[in-house]
Amino acid sequence: MALLGVGNCASALVQGLQYYNSSPEEEERFGLRNIVLGGFRPKDIEIVAAFDIDDRKVGKDVSEAIFAQPNNAPKLIDTPLTNVVVNKGPVLDGVGEYTKNIIHITSHNETKVAMILKESDAEMVLNLLPSGAVKASQWYAEQSMVAGCAFVNAAPIFIASDAAWARKFETAELPLVGDDLIDQVGATTLHKTLLNLLTMNGVRVTETYQLDVGGGTESLDTLERTKDVKRIVKTKSVEASLPYSAAVVAGSTDYVDFLQNRRDSYFWIRGVYYGNASMQMDLKLSTVDAPNAGSVLMDVIRAVKIARERKLKGAIVPICAYAFKRPPQLMSLETAEKMFASFVSGED
Ligand SMILES: NC(=O)c1ccc[n+]([C@@H]2O[C@H](COP(=O)([O-])OP(=O)(O)OC[C@H]3O[C@@H](n4cnc5c(N)ncnc54)[C@H](O)[C@@H]3O)[C@@H](O)[C@H]2O)c1
Repeated sequence: MALLGVGNCASALVQGLQYYNSSPEEEERFGLRNIVLGGFRPKDIEIVAAFDIDDRKVGKDVSEAIFAQPNNAPKLIDTPLTNVVVNKGPVLDGVGEYTKNIIHITSHNETKVAMILKESDAEMVLNLLPSGAVKASQWYAEQSMVAGCAFVNAAPIFIASDAAWARKFETAELPLVGDDLIDQVGATTLHKTLLNLLTMNGVRVTETYQLDVGGGTESLDTLERTKDVKRIVKTKSVEASLPYSAAVVAGSTDYVDFLQNRRDSYFWIRGVYYGNASMQMDLKLSTVDAPNAGSVLMDVIRAVKIARERKLKGAIVPICAYAFKRPPQLMSLETAEKMFASFVSGED
């Protein structure tokens, strides 16, 4: 696979590949939802190309670039040389006003992205660009098609959920999945699960919000460019877990630099139960952002490999619904889980 953006998320993924591959007793390493998925293990995932624009990353081996500033994902393990050097791609809208002093654009020449993808034999491209990089993400999606690669869109940018893009990948006979990866211990999933549990027990939730603050570069980019879109994606996803309408707000609020790669999510729920008695709930979830993507990404990468082997094309709904906040079709967590399990086992 090829990496677009060697930021915090990429750091957690690359380190995780080493972490889960280096132990002879990999079953004893906790933290992965699926050690084996569709017959594939983490050691079957290989990074063969990478692109970024930051001077501290371009020209470096991926194993070094993942620890370069401004990345602040925690170090989990030493990573050996991958012999994959980070190439420079076009900047386009990759850098916003708020991040222009944090990302140092390199003066290296731009490389020929589609050609590198082809020569590296990449089967899929993983989009980990900042959420504000809409044009850059779309440009790379086009390059993926030219190079014959599947496209995995982890960013909250509408590609897999956009019917026109899905059609383009269908015509190119390539799989497309996205948009906006669901975290392993994610605020959206936890929020939906809590609402579901309360509703199942007869509670009528009337109002609820979930807001978060984080300290990664991505939180700063969100503050400037994608707060609104994230609020739409998360709110719609949470609303879909309630079988009735209620006042729901879910989104990100701010960037707190000293949190580093940590994220604090706040939940508030109000409802009524038996005899109109009222209940309220206040919760705080503290997580580290980048590792929160690792387990789900490993599942997605292996599932896309399965899709490639089955020669599937266009938006692959079971993968999108299982692993992304904005799939082409919104459904309950339970339905998405079942659909994904049937997809992996080949029953669907
Ligand atoms: N848990 C998670 O981390 C998580 C969950 C869901 C979605 N996501 C999404 O994944 C994406 C990556 O998150 P992150 O925390 O790694 O962000 P990040 O800011 O740490 O990394 C982004 C990287 O992209 C590079 N970049 C910017 N413009 C570029 C361009 N034009 N070409 C190539 N590289 C470019 C930057 O230099 C940086 O290295 C974001 O869109 C985020 O919303 C992350």
